[in-house]
Amino acid sequence: MPGLLSSPVYLTVVWFLSWSLLPSCAQIWTDEVSDVQYGRLESNVTLACGKSQIRTPVVWHLNHSSALPWHKVTSDGALVLLHVDHSAQGNYSCYDNDGLLLHSVKLRLGRPPGLLSISCQVPNYTHVRCSWVESVKTFLPAKYNASFRGNGQMWAPCVLDIVRKRCDIDHPAFWQAMHTLRITETNALGSETTYGQFRLHELLKPNPPESVLVKEIEGYPKRLNVFWNIPSSWPQHDAFPLLFQIRYRPQGSIYWSEIYSEESPAIIFDALAGHVHQVQVRARDEVNSESQWSEWTPLLLVRPWQVYTTPDPAEAFLPEERDPDYYFPITPKPETSTPKSHNPVPDDKGNLGLVILLVLFSVVILTTILSLIFVVWVKQRRHDHMTKQELTSMVKMKTMPI
Ligand SMILES: *[C@@H]1O[C@H](CO)[C@@H](O)[C@H](O)[C@H]1NC(C)=O
Ligand SMILES: *[C@@H]1O[C@H](CO)[C@@H](O)[C@H](O)[C@H]1NC(C)=O
Ligand SMILES: *[C@@H]1O[C@H](CO)[C@@H](O)[C@H](O)[C@H]1NC(C)=O
Ligand SMILES: *[C@@H]1O[C@H](CO)[C@@H](O)[C@H](O)[C@H]1NC(C)=O
Ligand SMILES: *[C@@H]1O[C@H](CO)[C@@H](O)[C@H](O)[C@H]1NC(C)=O
Repeated sequence: MPGLLSSPVYLTVVWFLSWSLLPSCAQIWTDEVSDVQYGRLESNVTLACGKSQIRTPVVWHLNHSSALPWHKVTSDGALVLLHVDHSAQGNYSCYDNDGLLLHSVKLRLGRPPGLLSISCQVPNYTHVRCSWVESVKTFLPAKYNASFRGNGQMWAPCVLDIVRKRCDIDHPAFWQAMHTLRITETNALGSETTYGQFRLHELLKPNPPESVLVKEIEGYPKRLNVFWNIPSSWPQHDAFPLLFQIRYRPQGSIYWSEIYSEESPAIIFDALAGHVHQVQVRARDEVNSESQWSEWTPLLLVRPWQVYTTPDPAEAFLPEERDPDYYFPITPKPETSTPKSHNPVPDDKGNLGLVILLVLFSVVILTTILSLIFVVWVKQRRHDHMTKQELTSMVKMKTMPI
């Protein structure tokens, strides 16, 4: 027998059979369990010992062990598992009195599908994405079939992504007031169809604006310039204009201020000088007032322009050599060239320059006075020294022997 098993003829036959019988019966060659039977959790499940008439008594094993869950065996040898739970899953085999294997079956337990809870996202006028969540945990593999239609139209497939539990519709009939999505979930224990109805123009919700940037405006301690791009999932041409809302507040405040704009950039005119601000932007279809605002963009932190304390205060007011249009898209040019003298709101940064000037001035005066005192003192000392020297030389002269 071992010689036969390893013979090339035998191996070729096995190879041929496994290929010709794939995939339905391939498991026969790897394991004795050929069938899968599905049962409902919390119900009584009957496993028959093969199809033909069986001579009783028979012996049942689960996973090659004689320990079985709560059960009874009927007169024809069938095993009835009572009120099954997950622990009853496994490979069941029945044997006759002589220990000969009669039949084996793999039991998988779960539930038939329940209704789905469906929601749809509409990021632009040409795309709908619907996703679903199961209301019943089935524990079993499922197949789905999804289709979509506008009022009175033909069903069109909603293209499935089963792993992510969603489907996509391209170019829906947006002019229809109401749309219906139909999803059928099927598993080994049953099938359930869920219908969802939607008004696409109310679900229309753009993605948030992208590449948001907030910049200080040089020379303006109360202004901020906010830049953004329209969401990349929104058509780039002007046929579907968006409205943008910008909200901002000094960090720590609970009150937002808001401005609206039809295009980037937008200027905030009433920022709180010297404070870090939080800024966010969101978008909505400008024409369709029933549509939804996008989510807000992530918080951006920025501080308005302020005078920096440099050693020479005069230098801080010199405007740098930059493209004036970029920084001052709205204000007239004369104002931009000399922002200090024309700035109508004197703020505490200007006062700081004045204070520094005063301090420097007093330091200069103090130094002058001190050096004057020092000079007078030195002169006085030298004079005293001179008179002392004269006196001693005179004494010396007097005591010299003639
Ligand atoms: C399961 O079987 C038990 C015992 O035969 C019986 O009392 C019970 O009603 C059955 N349950 C179901 C759901 O059929
Ligand atoms: C049950 O049978 C399957 C093949 O049908 C096999 O993969 C698995 O290992 C078996 N489990 C046990 C515990 O015998
Ligand atoms: C039998 O084996 C299956 C895997 O095939 C396992 O899920 C199950 O828990 C086992 N059951 C028992 C009672 O050991
Ligand atoms: C899915 O639904 C479509 C439209 O109702 C139908 O034509 C198709 O046969 C269904 N497919 C399956 C696998 O149920
Ligand atoms: C609409 O949104 C979808 C999903 O984000 C995207 O694939 C598609 O290109 C968008 N259509 C247009 C016209 O931008």
